[in-house]
Amino acid sequence: MKIAIIGTGYVGLTTAVVLSYLNHDVAGVDKDESKLTLLHEGKSPIHEPGIQNLLDEVWHTIRFTPSVAEVVPEAELILIAVGTPPKKSGEADTRHVEQAAREVAQVCLPDRHYTLVVKSTVPIGTNQRVVEVVEDVFAARGIRGNVSVASNPEFLQEGLALQGAFYPDRIVVGANSDEAIDTLRRLYQPILEQTFDPPSEFPRPSAYHLPPLMTTDPNSAEMIKYAANTFLALKISFINEIAGLCEEVDADVIEVARGIGLDARIGHQFLRAGLGWGGSCYPKDTAALLGVAAQSGYKMPITEAARTVNFRQRERIVEKLRAVLHTLEGKIIGILGLAFKPNTDDIREAPSLDIIRELLAEGATVRAHDPIATANARRALPDNNRLSFTEDIYELSYDTDALVLVTEWEPYHKLELRRLAKQMKTPILIDGRNVYSPEEARAAGFHYIGVGRT
Ligand code: UGA
Repeated sequence: MKIAIIGTGYVGLTTAVVLSYLNHDVAGVDKDESKLTLLHEGKSPIHEPGIQNLLDEVWHTIRFTPSVAEVVPEAELILIAVGTPPKKSGEADTRHVEQAAREVAQVCLPDRHYTLVVKSTVPIGTNQRVVEVVEDVFAARGIRGNVSVASNPEFLQEGLALQGAFYPDRIVVGANSDEAIDTLRRLYQPILEQTFDPPSEFPRPSAYHLPPLMTTDPNSAEMIKYAANTFLALKISFINEIAGLCEEVDADVIEVARGIGLDARIGHQFLRAGLGWGGSCYPKDTAALLGVAAQSGYKMPITEAARTVNFRQRERIVEKLRAVLHTLEGKIIGILGLAFKPNTDDIREAPSLDIIRELLAEGATVRAHDPIATANARRALPDNNRLSFTEDIYELSYDTDALVLVTEWEPYHKLELRRLAKQMKTPILIDGRNVYSPEEARAAGFHYIGVGRT
């Protein structure tokens, strides 16, 4: 199938590469010149495990261009995967989605049928708005046009995006036209029936079941995306709230999470207490959902509380440091992990940024480390002569008053704790992700403080 994908960001590029691997004829469209330059050189602009190898593999067939007019007229299916950044109010800004739809409608051929798919995460009602935008352009062009619009929300997790694309739990399509549903069924047929040869880096999981294609109306499909992210976000906030109480009453949140997760109705996933959620999705989508609700005058206290608990986790870590060091003024603090989660260089809404800003504001000196996100964090944080970045964890820890483990990167699971504790001024480990057991850290000489642990 001939496909044009508008937007080669995180979702657009991953989708483009995977669909190309599934033998579709894919063209990616992006206006960002720096991104295009990299793509034309065959380099992935995003850091995502496996994406470069897959891009290499499909390089002879995939195309990237700045021009909608060059690829859309001949395409059968057009995917919109542009950003929906938050407005000041928290609501999602759908301007880029509407603009993409307008540009597509301007170049559609009058005698052909197109399926226009919105993959971007958009407020409820946006698909309907896209239909209107397309119709307005057709009216201005004086043509009838033949475009079916469908919602196809994306559930990829950063760091696990390709795994999620090849082996999804479900595919959701919201459309009012059978034609659009049929086209999307054909698009995803190799995934729905798992008829492709798995790439060597992404073997098919042994317990994997064929994913259902769920069809529904466009508004419900848009809501499914927000509801899924908000549910996961509040599951994490729930365990973080329990973790705070565990600290008060001398219970261990790891044990509690294990105990409740064994209930099949609750399940084990997304019950890791710690510094809470960051990234471009949960903070943005929970705010956007509240924005959607506010427009109807509807209150969502559970979603609001999930956000409050989440951002309080960052303050609580600084409070713990303050309590154990008495003051932060003049103290040297080592930060392990800048990315919002492991296996990505994404620092959007990362807990590390708030923590570092607060430590600097209170007069501390901060040394930070991350396996790959340092360059992005450097750009996001203010220049400050009390803030430095280092590539060597052991150099970073020398003479520090405390270490704070912010992101659970794999290398941080294997730290030589004894060596670290020995060279610090005071061997304090604030483990914001409960990577270590209190016993192990204490045996290595650390004063250990986790999240929700005795
Ligand atoms: C999330 C969803 O998981 C995807 O399904 C969705 O497609 C995506 O948002 C999106 O809307 O684009 P992502 O933000 O990449 O994906 O990352 P997650 O793995 O869900 O983690 C989000 C945050 O929650 C991270 O900061 C992580 O550290 C935190 N987290 C996760 C916890 O604090 N505890 C947990 O138990 C799990």
